[in-house]
Amino acid sequence: MKKHTLALTAAFSVLALAACGNGSDSSGSTAGGGGGGGADMRLALNQTEEHPSFIALDNFGQKLAEDTDDRYSIEVYPNEELGAQAEALQYVGDGSVDLAIVSGTQLENLNADFAAFNMPGAFDSVEHQMEVIHDEEIVGDLYTSLEESNNVTVLGGFTQGTRSIYSDKEIRTPEDMAGMKIRVQESPLHIGMIEAMGGSATPMAFGEVYTALQSGVLDGAENNEVSFFTQKHFEVAPVYSRTNHLVGLDYLIINTDVLEGMSEEDRQAFLDAWTTAHEEHTQLWAEATDKAIADAEAGGATFVDVDAEAFAGAIAPLQEEFLTTDSQKALFDAARAAAK
Ligand code: GCU
Repeated sequence: MKKHTLALTAAFSVLALAACGNGSDSSGSTAGGGGGGGADMRLALNQTEEHPSFIALDNFGQKLAEDTDDRYSIEVYPNEELGAQAEALQYVGDGSVDLAIVSGTQLENLNADFAAFNMPGAFDSVEHQMEVIHDEEIVGDLYTSLEESNNVTVLGGFTQGTRSIYSDKEIRTPEDMAGMKIRVQESPLHIGMIEAMGGSATPMAFGEVYTALQSGVLDGAENNEVSFFTQKHFEVAPVYSRTNHLVGLDYLIINTDVLEGMSEEDRQAFLDAWTTAHEEHTQLWAEATDKAIADAEAGGATFVDVDAEAFAGAIAPLQEEFLTTDSQKALFDAARAAAK
């Protein structure tokens, strides 16, 4: 499977790494080289170094190096240094980057089945979400579905926690969002979601949101408390209105050739270290959320409750509108069946 692309991928990796001046690869050992020889792998992330995702991934890299006697290591590049998620997804496919964290909204553009887990109401809690998305029986086919088409394997994920709307004014009802330009991730479902919630959806990469809020290109955005604080969005859109419209989801993706190129022993060490990493992320998440709320409040942000019933009613029709195929419905139903 795809072996013919290995040499090309490896060559491209070397060129791309050299172009980026990445000194850590001076060993000449690059991912995608195959043969189980090992590699210094590069991971693209769009969060800051204080974000739980960076912390868990950095520890992941260290554990992997220890457990493989330094045959494999991971360098995490935060803050979109290797590109925004849409680019990072392409780079992982072409092998110029080995690993990335991308939101489920990005994968929905490659395989519409991913929309099932981007749907409001799919998950009741972080724990429920983590159980579903690491259940091989539910996600096995989904996670390998991009291998032939995109050379990308999905390994599982991190929660994005509960997402809400923020702007410079209180939002209590869908009517309050009328005429407001709200940044949304680049996903048909989430564009539809913001429109259903009463706003005007503006899709945009994560790293552009601060400036767009500041300059008035946007009137608001939607995210979890951790990103609201770590991206400093609270400085320019200080009122966080708890619409709690969905529990969002990030995935770890890897170049399929890189994964296949590992020896069985190293691949097992890699997968075990990843399990430790996503479990650590889940543990860090609740505390990081509490801290982000406290820190944002100390910086002048306010958190307000909304008319939850009005928003629930507004987004209810999304399921019928956006989950139209049997496979989408089966994934959504499997998620719901696993709810306690
Ligand atoms: C969260 C999520 C990111 C995503 C971002 C966004 O912060 O963890 O992966 O890119 O939301 O809204 O774009």
